[in-house]
Amino acid sequence: METAHSAVKTTRLDEYRSPAYRVDEVRLDVDIHDGVTTVSSELVLQRHADAAGVSSMTFNGEGLSLRSLALDGVVLNEASYRYEAGLLTVDGLPERCTLSSVVDIEPEKNTALEGLYLSKGMYCTQCEAEGFRHITFFPDRPDVLSRFTTTVRADRARFPLLLSNGNPVASGEDGERHWVTWEDPFPKPCYLFALVAGDLACLEDTFNTMSGREVALRLYAEHRDLDKLDHAMESLKQAMRWDEQTYGREYDLDIYMIVAVSHFNMGAMENKGLNIFNTSCVLAHPATTTDAGFQRVESVVAHEYFHNWSGNRVTCRDWFQLSLKEGFTVFRDQEFSADMNSAAVKRVEDVDFLVNHQFPEDQGPMAHPVRPSEYQKIDNFYTLTIYEKGAEIVRMQYHLLGAEGFRKATDLYFERFDGQAVTCDDFVACMEEVSGLDLSKFKRWYSQAGTPVLSVTATQDEHGYSLNFRQQTPPTPGQAEKLPVVIPVRIALLDRDGEPVILDEQGRREVVLIVDQQEQGFVFPGVSGVTPSLLRGFSAPVVLQHDYQDGQLEHLLAHDSDGYCRWAASRELYFAALDRLVKGEGGTANVAQAAEQEANQLAAVLDQVIARAGEDAAQAALLLALPSEVALGDRHVPLDPGRVHVAHRSLRRALGHALQSQWLELSESLLATELQMDGVAMGRRQLRNLALEYLAAGDHPEAERIAVELFELPLCMSEELGALRTLVHYQLPGAAQALAQFEKRWKDEALVMDQWFSVQASAGGTDQVERVRGLLQHPAFDWATPNRVRSVVGAFAGSNPAAFHAEDGSGYRLFAEMLAKVDALNPQIAARIANAAARLPRLKAELQGKLRAELESVKKGASANLSEVLGRVLS
Ligand code: ARG
Ligand code: ZN
Repeated sequence: METAHSAVKTTRLDEYRSPAYRVDEVRLDVDIHDGVTTVSSELVLQRHADAAGVSSMTFNGEGLSLRSLALDGVVLNEASYRYEAGLLTVDGLPERCTLSSVVDIEPEKNTALEGLYLSKGMYCTQCEAEGFRHITFFPDRPDVLSRFTTTVRADRARFPLLLSNGNPVASGEDGERHWVTWEDPFPKPCYLFALVAGDLACLEDTFNTMSGREVALRLYAEHRDLDKLDHAMESLKQAMRWDEQTYGREYDLDIYMIVAVSHFNMGAMENKGLNIFNTSCVLAHPATTTDAGFQRVESVVAHEYFHNWSGNRVTCRDWFQLSLKEGFTVFRDQEFSADMNSAAVKRVEDVDFLVNHQFPEDQGPMAHPVRPSEYQKIDNFYTLTIYEKGAEIVRMQYHLLGAEGFRKATDLYFERFDGQAVTCDDFVACMEEVSGLDLSKFKRWYSQAGTPVLSVTATQDEHGYSLNFRQQTPPTPGQAEKLPVVIPVRIALLDRDGEPVILDEQGRREVVLIVDQQEQGFVFPGVSGVTPSLLRGFSAPVVLQHDYQDGQLEHLLAHDSDGYCRWAASRELYFAALDRLVKGEGGTANVAQAAEQEANQLAAVLDQVIARAGEDAAQAALLLALPSEVALGDRHVPLDPGRVHVAHRSLRRALGHALQSQWLELSESLLATELQMDGVAMGRRQLRNLALEYLAAGDHPEAERIAVELFELPLCMSEELGALRTLVHYQLPGAAQALAQFEKRWKDEALVMDQWFSVQASAGGTDQVERVRGLLQHPAFDWATPNRVRSVVGAFAGSNPAAFHAEDGSGYRLFAEMLAKVDALNPQIAARIANAAARLPRLKAELQGKLRAELESVKKGASANLSEVLGRVLS
C-alpha cells in the first residue's frame, strides 16, 4: 500500500503539450462499503500518431491506496511504475494496451468535497476541475476524452439508487447488495464523470425534443424535499426548449438527471446526463425560498443544461480555456433569463453584479486575464473574471456580429468542434470566419487583465457635437503595460424631451462607436443641446468616466429609454453624494446634517422614480436602492471603512426621512393578499422590502409595526425574510423575538436557516464582531457544511465591512480564526472566502498592518489553495 500527495507547483499555458496516449475507453467498478470504497478501473490506451517512440505515460492519482496494477492482464512489478507526488508513471507501454488498477479510497473522510464523498448519508462526486484523480488513476486533463462504462455497487437497503452518466444497461442483486452498470455513449473528459449512491425521492417528467425524441427528466432530492422540485423541473423544460429555438441545440441522451446535495463547494455541476446541484440552486418553494432564490434556481438549472453543448459536447483543451465554456454559458443563461423575465431588469442585475464584484477583483491583487497564463490551483480560477467578464466578452462578439451572424458562428463552432477539446481562439476564429471581421485586436480582452477606464469628454462647436474618448487599462500583477482594447460604445444623444436625436444619414438614433485607439473622437454634425446616453446596455465592461453637466444625470434618470443608462445615472448621483459625505470634515453630527442636504437634493428626482414605480416595480427598486457600502468603499483609497460606514448609514437615514411618506405609502400599498410568483409580483415585493428598509432607516415609528405584521403572516419567504432583515439590520425592538420565532419555525430547513445566519452575520455595525462570533457557537453552525460556512463567514467578510474592518482589528482576528478552521477541512472554500481580504492594499495604514499580521499567521499552515490566494494578497 502506498499513498502520495502532490506538491504545489505552477502550471503555465505556454507549457501545454498534448498527451502521448488517448484513453479510448474507461471501465470503472466502484464498490462502496462503509469506510472504504474500492475502485477498479480498466483504461484502454492508444498512443497518439504524433507520439511515435514514446512508451511511458503519467496518470494523476491523489491519496489513492494502490492495491494492484496490471498491463494487458499481467501484474506489473514495482520496477515498471512509480507512484509519487500525485503521479503514477508507467513505462514500457505498447501502442495499444489496457491498464488495470485497483485502489482503495475513503469517501467518509473526504471533507474537501472533491472526488467521491459522503453528504448526509449519500455518496456523490465532484470532479471538476481535478477531482477525478481522487477516485482512480487517470490523465486528469480535459483534452483526454473517453467512453465511460461504470458499475456502482452498494448495500441495497441503504442505497436503493445507484446512478452514473448515460444510460443504465445492466443491474443485478448480490445478497444484501446490488449493482447497476451505466454506459455513456459520448466520449467525455473525466471532469464530467459523476456517480451517486443514495436513498432519494424523484420527480419525473418528460421532454419531447425538436426531432421528436422523448427524454426522461428525473430530479432527485431527499424525500422531505420532494415538494421543492417543481420550479427546477419547469426551468429545465424551458431551458431545453430555449436552447433548441435560440441555438438549434437538442439534448442528446435519453435521460437527464439532477441530484440535489447538501454539501457542495459550488453552485452546481454539469456532469454528462447527471448534474449534481447544491440544494440551494435546485430546491425552491414559496414558503422557504426567496424570489431571488427562485430566479437563481431558474438560471443555474439553465446554465448547467446549456453546458451540455457549451462545455460537454465541445469542451476545453486545458483549464486556461475555462472561460470558453463558462463565459459562453453564463452569456447563454443570462440571455435565457432575460427572455423568461424582464430583459431590462435582468441586464441591470447582471451589470450590478459585475461592477460590484468582478471590477474589484480586476482592480486588486487577484486580477487575472479571462484566459489566465498560469495558476497554482485551478480551483482558485473559478472566478468572476472567468465567468462574468468572460460572458461580457462573448456578449460583445454577439453585438459585433448581430444576432444572425452570431448564430451562424455558434452553429459553425458546435459542428466543427463537436467531440473535441478546444480553445478560446477556436471560438473567436468561428466568429471571424462567418463575419469576415478581423478580431485579432479584440482578442486582447482574453489576454489582458484589468478593467479599462474610458474617459469621455463632450464638446460643442459650430460643426456639431463631438465625443472624445480616451482609454487606459491600469497595470495588474504581472502586466505592467497595457495595449488599447476594442471597446464598442453604444450611444444615443437625447434632446430636451429625452428623445434620441438622429445621428447620421441613415437616420439612426443609436449607434455603436468602436473605440480601439488610446484616443479617438467622433463628430455628430448639426447636433446640439443634447445629453449623451453612453455605453447603452453596458456595451463593454469598462469604467466610464464623464463629467456630466448640471441636470444631465437627472435628465437621463428621468427619460432615458435604456434601462442600464437610467440605472447608471442613479449610481452616479448616489455616489457623488456619498463621496462628498465620505470626504467631508467633522464628526458624526456634521455628517448627519450634510446627509440631510444631500437627501433633499436627491428627493425630487427620486420622487419621480417613485411616481413611475407602477410601470415596473423591479426596475424602480433597482433605481432606488443605494449602492452598497462595500461598493462605496471601493471608491476611496486609502480606505477608511469606519468613515464609509457612517456616510452610508447617514444617507440611508436621510433618504428614509426625506421621502418618508412615499416609503410608507409603498410599504402599505404594495402589500399582496394572495401569493403570486410571477415577475410582477416579485418586483412589487422587492420594492416593498426596500421601502420598508428606508422607512426603518429613517426611524419612522410605523416601520416596526409594518415589519412585525409582515413577519407574523407572510405569504412567502421573500416577505418573511424582508421583514426579518429590516427588524435585525435596523435593530428594531421586535428583532430578538422575530429571530427566535424564525428559528423555531425553520430549524429543520437547512437552506432557510442559512438565511437566518446570514441576516445576522451581515448586520452592519462596528460592534457586531462578537455577535458573529456567537453565531459560530450556535448548535446549528457546522464548519463542514459549505452553505452554512458561507452564510456566516462569507456574509461577515463580504457584506459586513464595518464589523470586518473594526478599528481594533477584532474582525480580522475572527476572520483569521475562521479561515484556519475552514482550511483544515475544505481548502477550496477557505481560498474562496480569503478573497475578501483582497482589499488589503487599499486599506488605511493602521488597518493594513493588522490585517497583514493576521493573514501572515494563517498562511503558515495553509493549504495549497489558501496559500495561493494569501500569497497574492500579501505580495
Ligand atoms: N462547471 C461548474 C459550473 O457550472 C463549476 C464547477 C467548478 N467546481 C470547482 N470545484 N471548481 O460553473
Ligand atoms: Zn458553468
